[in-house]
Amino acid sequence: MNSLRIALPDDFHAHLRQGPPLRAYVARSAANFGRFLAMPNVVPPPVDGRFLADYGAALASAIAGSGRDARVLLSFKLVPGMGPEAVYRCAEAGAVAGKYYPAGATTHSSDGIAEPGQVSRELAAMQEAGLVLAVHGEDPAAPVLGRETAFLPVLDRVVAAYPRLRVVLEHLSGAEAVAAVLDWPDRVAATITAHHLAYTIDDLLGDRLDPSFYCKPLLKSAADRSALVGAACSGSPKFFFGSDSAPHPAAAKAAGAAGVYASPAAMPILAAVFEEAGALDRLEGFCSAAGARFYGLPEPRGELLLERREWVVPGELDGVVPLAAGRTLSWTAYRT
Ligand code: DOR
Ligand code: ZN
Repeated sequence: MNSLRIALPDDFHAHLRQGPPLRAYVARSAANFGRFLAMPNVVPPPVDGRFLADYGAALASAIAGSGRDARVLLSFKLVPGMGPEAVYRCAEAGAVAGKYYPAGATTHSSDGIAEPGQVSRELAAMQEAGLVLAVHGEDPAAPVLGRETAFLPVLDRVVAAYPRLRVVLEHLSGAEAVAAVLDWPDRVAATITAHHLAYTIDDLLGDRLDPSFYCKPLLKSAADRSALVGAACSGSPKFFFGSDSAPHPAAAKAAGAAGVYASPAAMPILAAVFEEAGALDRLEGFCSAAGARFYGLPEPRGELLLERREWVVPGELDGVVPLAAGRTLSWTAYRT
């Protein structure tokens, strides 16, 4: 197959940042995705309806400036003490999800949650409001390669305690997490990134240190990658695409920031992964259907054309070293 048209993909996990760089990052997402769920780890955090609405307006204005037809989906940051009323106000302001960050797990998460009992009233309110709980599933106290596995029992308790709450375990990175998601009821799903599907810890550390592959959760072993590919290509509606595109300018990267600027190259990389697995016919379900269905959104409008045409990923885009910088990809994506 030399070209493939799929319904326009959605990205259910994107860090679009704030301030001047936001416009370029939004334009880059809108070039390949019809909808993207904006992560709330900005400063100050969106923990009330008014601030969330303001952030949504800034993102909508950037979309308008890009000249693309796209829509941003909003999430608020779930923090201890915010109270159930603030949860309902965020829902009124258009939030479709609230994001659970374990305290200290990643960028701008020091105000996160030490244990789920700290947000029990807020979780009950999310369940009542029909909001999705989006979870960064890592225990920062565990050794770095075991952080995701160490968090699974915590999430298991949350899933059991709120029997109507819809939950998304974000950016799966390991085989144990894949198995856990399959064991939980259908109201629990997961996003998977292009980089966790295509690369392993050897791309980050094996030859020379390449910080463009450094993210949380870390890229893991070949066996983990193969469990993720199996899940993404299985056709199960529990697994859908979220890029976790997380741009950091060079100076921040040099200072050790975690995050992969994934949105520019994600779709060509996904096409190659699905092709290698003999599952190109399942790519559309993974990135253009399953997530929208889980979130209760209408089917996407528009199409993405993937062509078998080599594309050398630039060494720098928008002042950031993107995922797969300098590598030659075998597919190119065009929004039609
Ligand atoms: O690598 C990451 N970077 N993981 C996250 O969870 C957050 C993100 C960021 O915001 O930079
Ligand atoms: Zn993220």
